[in-house]
Amino acid sequence: MPIIPKTAINGAITGWGRALPEKVVTNSDLAKTMDTSDEWIRERTGIERRHIGGTTASLSIESGRKAIEMAGVDPSTIDALILSTTTPDRTVPATSAAVQHGLGLRCGAFDVNAACSGFVYGLVTAHGLIAIGMKKILVIGTDTLSRITDWSDRNTAILFADGSGAAVVEAVEGPGQLLGWDIDADGSLEDLLYAEIGGTLYMEGKEVFRRAVRIMVDSAEKSLKAAGLTTSDVALVAPHQANLRIIEAACKRLDIPMSKAAWVGNETGNTSSASIPLALFDAADNNRLKTGDIVLLVGFGAGMTAASAVIKWKQP
Ligand code: UT7
Repeated sequence: MPIIPKTAINGAITGWGRALPEKVVTNSDLAKTMDTSDEWIRERTGIERRHIGGTTASLSIESGRKAIEMAGVDPSTIDALILSTTTPDRTVPATSAAVQHGLGLRCGAFDVNAACSGFVYGLVTAHGLIAIGMKKILVIGTDTLSRITDWSDRNTAILFADGSGAAVVEAVEGPGQLLGWDIDADGSLEDLLYAEIGGTLYMEGKEVFRRAVRIMVDSAEKSLKAAGLTTSDVALVAPHQANLRIIEAACKRLDIPMSKAAWVGNETGNTSSASIPLALFDAADNNRLKTGDIVLLVGFGAGMTAASAVIKWKQP
C-alpha cells in the first residue's frame, strides 16, 4: 500500500465541468422495445432515465472546456491531458488527440482505459505527474456506452449511457488534496464484462454485482488506511454510479450512511468513466462540499478494476 511521501508535491482540483447529451431516454421508453418495466428498473437499479448521444470527443471537449473556464487557466499552459474512456471514437489514435486539438491544448495527451474505475486511475496518475514536476493537468472521464450497447438486451440496455466529467488539477505549495489512493485489477475476471472490438457489451450481472461490493469496500479501506483515516472521517462518498443497490451494500459494509453518498445514477444511468466525476461535481455544484471535507471516490469496473482516492476537498 503506497503512502504519499510528505515531501511530494501535491495537487488540488481547481475547476470542473460536466456534460450530458440532450437526448433523454426514460425507463418507459425502453419498456416499449424490450421486455422490462419502469418499476423493475427503478427497484433493481435506482435508474429512472439516462442521456444518450454525442461522441466521446465532443462530450469531453464540452466538459473539459467548462473545467478550464472555471479554473481560469490559459489552455496553452496545461501540461497534460488524461482522458479516461472505454469507448474511444477511433481505434487509433487515442481520443485524447481529438480532445487536445478541440480544446486548443499544446501538451502530452493520452487515453486511460480502466473501465468505470478509469477517472480515479486518471486522477491518481495526474498527481503522479505533478509530483515529478507538472503544474496543470486536465483529467476527463467520458464514455459513450450507448454505442457498444445491444439495445435489444435487457440485461445491459437498462443500465448503460453516455456522459462526461472533467477536472483541472493544479500543483499546490504545501498540503494538497490527495491523502490516500488505491488502484487494483484482477484480469482473471475479464470475461464477466466485455465487448469484443466492434461488438456490444456482454455482462454477467449477478456475478459483477457480487464482486463489485467486495472490491469497492476493499479498495476504499486501503485508501483510507493509506490516508490514516477511517470511514467515520468521510463527509461524502462519490461512488461509481452503476446500481443504487451496489452503493447501498458497499456503504453498509463500510458503515457509511447513505446520506453521505452522492447519487446521480437515477438521472444518468451508468456512464462508466464519467460516473464518479458526474456524481462528485453534482455534489460540489449543489453545495454539499466545503473546504476540509474528506471525500472518498471509489469505483469498480470491467477488468475487473477497482480504484479509490481519499481527497481533502478544497473549495476553489
Ligand atoms: O459498471 C459496472 C457494470 N455493471 C454492473 O455494475 C452491473 C451489476 N449487476 C446489476 O446491477 C444487476 O445484477 C442487474 C441490474 C443487471 C440485474 O439485477 P438483479 O437483481 O441481479 O436481477 P436478476 O438478474 O437476478 O434477475 C431477477 C429477475 C429474473 O427473473 P426470474 O428468474 O426471477 O423470473 C430476470 O429474468 O428479473 C428478470 N429480469 C428482468 N426483468 C425485467 C432481468 N433483467 C430484467 C429487466 N427487466 N431488465
